[in-house]
This record gives sequence, C-alpha cells and structure tokens, in this order.
Amino acid sequence: MKEISIGLIGFGTIGSGVAKLLQENRDVLEARVGMSLRLARVADLDVETDRGVKIDRSILTTNADDVLQDPNILIVAELIGGYEPARTFVLTALRNGKHVVTANKALLAEHGAEIFGAAYQAGTQIAFEGAVAGSIPILRSLREALVANRFEKVLAILNGTCNFILTAMDETPGVSFDQVLGEAQNLGYAEADPSLDIEGIDAAHKLVLMLSLTHGIRVPVSRIHVEGITGIDPFDVQMAKEFSYKIKLLAVINDSAQGLEARVHPTMIPRNHPLARVNGVFNGIYLKCDAADEQLFLGRGAGKEPTASAVVGDLVEIARNIAAGCATRVPPAGYPEDRISASGITDIRNVVTNYYLRVQAADSPGVLSKISGVMARHRVSIHSVIQKGRHTSAGVPVVFLTHTAREADVRRAIAEVADLDVVKEPPVIIRIEDETIT
Ligand code: HSE
Repeated sequence: MKEISIGLIGFGTIGSGVAKLLQENRDVLEARVGMSLRLARVADLDVETDRGVKIDRSILTTNADDVLQDPNILIVAELIGGYEPARTFVLTALRNGKHVVTANKALLAEHGAEIFGAAYQAGTQIAFEGAVAGSIPILRSLREALVANRFEKVLAILNGTCNFILTAMDETPGVSFDQVLGEAQNLGYAEADPSLDIEGIDAAHKLVLMLSLTHGIRVPVSRIHVEGITGIDPFDVQMAKEFSYKIKLLAVINDSAQGLEARVHPTMIPRNHPLARVNGVFNGIYLKCDAADEQLFLGRGAGKEPTASAVVGDLVEIARNIAAGCATRVPPAGYPEDRISASGITDIRNVVTNYYLRVQAADSPGVLSKISGVMARHRVSIHSVIQKGRHTSAGVPVVFLTHTAREADVRRAIAEVADLDVVKEPPVIIRIEDETIT
C-alpha cells in the first residue's frame, strides 16, 4: 500500500489528538484513502510528558528542523499555535516544498498574504479546516460544495467560550458575565487568559479567513469592526428574552445594498432563528446563499478530538491530491491568489440594521419625548419602547427597539442622548438581526 509520511510540529492537546486519531482510525482511513498516513516525526519542546497516545519514541524530537528538513516528509502539520515560531515553521515547510496543515487561525488571519503567497509560489498546499469552527467542515463547504453560490449573508457563532457564557447568562437570570466566565474557566472551557475570546478577536480571526472564501477578500483584522461580550449585562439578556431574542456573539458577513459588511459583535437574534439552537460551547454557521438558499452548520468548534478530526481530514485531502498528482487542485483561500483583493469592506457606519438601545433615564414627565425627539432628528425610528421599574434617584431603564437605521445616525443620536441632563449613564447599544422588523 502506498504510504505518505507526515511530520507533526506540536505534540500538545491537538497534536496528540491527531496522533491518536491516525492510530485509532488507521483501518478506516486506509480503507477509505487506499494509502497509509504514516506519522514519521513528531517535534515538540517537551518530549517527556505522557500524552496518552502510544508512539514509537524514536520519532520524537525536540528539533523542528528534523521535521522541516526531512526529505521523506511530504506534509507538515503545524499545531503549536501562536505567531512565532509557528510562522517561521510554516514558511520554511512551504519553501522546502512540503504541504502544510494548520489550525492556527491567528497566524493565518494576521499573516495570510505572506503564508498563502508562499504556498502559491512553492506550488504547495496549505489546508486549515480546523482553524474555523473546529470540527465543522465549513471551509471545504464554502470552497467546494457551495462554490456555485453567491454568499448573501453569513451569521456565525465561532467562539465556544463566548457562546458558553452567553448561553449560561440566558439560562440563569441575573447571573453576571464575571460569574459565568469564572465557571467556564473552572470547567476548562475558557483559557486562563480569555481576552482573545471574550474581546471578539478570536471570532474576528475566523471571520477574516471565511471572508476570503466567500468573497475573495483578505483584510487584516484591524479592518473589521469587533466588539466582545465583556459589557453584556444580565439585565439586557433578560430584556432580550422579553422581546423573544437571544444574545449571541456573531461574526457577520453581509453583502448588502450598503456594501460588503464584515463585523463581529453581540447580536440579538429571534429565539426561533436557526442559530438560537446553537448553545453552550457549540459553534454554528448560518448561510444565506443565492442558489442553495439557507444552510445551517452546527458542531463542536474546539477541543482535542473535534479539532483532530478536521486536521486529519486535511491530511487526507492533501494525501489524496498528492496521489492524484494535483496537490494544488483547489486554491486554499477559495479564490486563486492573484484574484484575492486586499480591500472591499464597507465602514461599520454604513451598516443598516435594527438596534436595541437601553437608556438609564430620570422617571419624570417629558423624558421619553426628549429622547425620542433626538432619535427622530437623526432619522432613527422607534419600533417599540418599554420602561422597566419604578422611580429611583438612579433613574429607570428605558429600552427602545428601532426600525432599521443607519449606524452613523444611531451613533450620532446616542451621543446626543447621552448628553441629555435626564440621562444617567452611557446608553447600551446591541444590534438586532431580525428580518421581521424592518
Ligand atoms: N478559544 C476558541 C473558542 C477555540 O473558545 O471557541 C479555539 O478556536
């Protein structure tokens, strides 16, 4: 049986998961692929810790060059994460003519032009299914199965940590963001330093990768409007419920009349929206395509075995392509490198959507008309309003849902509302994704 030699760099959670899956599912892999995927070398700084996988110790090395310079190794899986030395390893592997598999979304999102360019120059393949939504085969679906479609809208829950926190806040009235974050850390769902997750950066990295597949655009994360979930208040979660919404951290690509929108922020979605059933640490992606219409993908977005599933899937795809003599058959970023544009995202201020606005205001006659007067002057039309609670010196929360409005107008209105003498705190704004209120 033909054999393809693979080298791993990184023998931590994902790397050992990949080694284990290659071993435990060897029979089914060989039967399906008609080749043997042989783990030839595994590099990690720590080769002493027991990773819970049976491995011939002679293939372990602390020197990544033993993988990168081995002429027999055709595919290198980079599974150390982070920027350096991962970037150097990936570039060296590509320049040495090796194909690369990685699940490193931060690296690809921040250094995509350099890395995809190097693969293109070298005539080698780079595969990264595990980088976006873990086990869910969303990249291959966008790139291949749905290639005939224009992607009108992508709404994606791409961060399990945030989804776990927001789900718990929805299910347990009054529980605070900090309480749930602590619980997520105790359960091992959130990192000790969860800032990339809760600030929305991790979801933005994944959105950047999806955008090249859906629209052939590669922009730095700094060009994406990103808001995390740290400011989500239990009161707003409960108000969302009263309006039959759930709050989710969404990565949004919207090909709208205003231009191509790419943004990450907490969003209220109807409780009967397909994404509302994506709870806990699960990821979900909702697509609206011109031909295939609506699609929903749901699955585990992180973790040892789910990510290993995606990585081994990529190893198999490359091995099959090598065997067929066409390793670069499909452009990894979805479009040929010379067709990828470095611009094309519209500014967040051009976005037109619905808004939830909470204003902590004095409870006295004329307050509502003052606030709504400001909103009317900025062309922000009110769909509904609820005042909660009774008169106190701290004021009362007044919640507005708007008809569709332009972000620039909403920002100007809110800045003016915040300055009113009857308003006690900076207003809270959460965008709404609800096609039934226009
Ligand atoms: N930290 C990510 C999450 C998983 O919470 O979803 C890795 O992409």
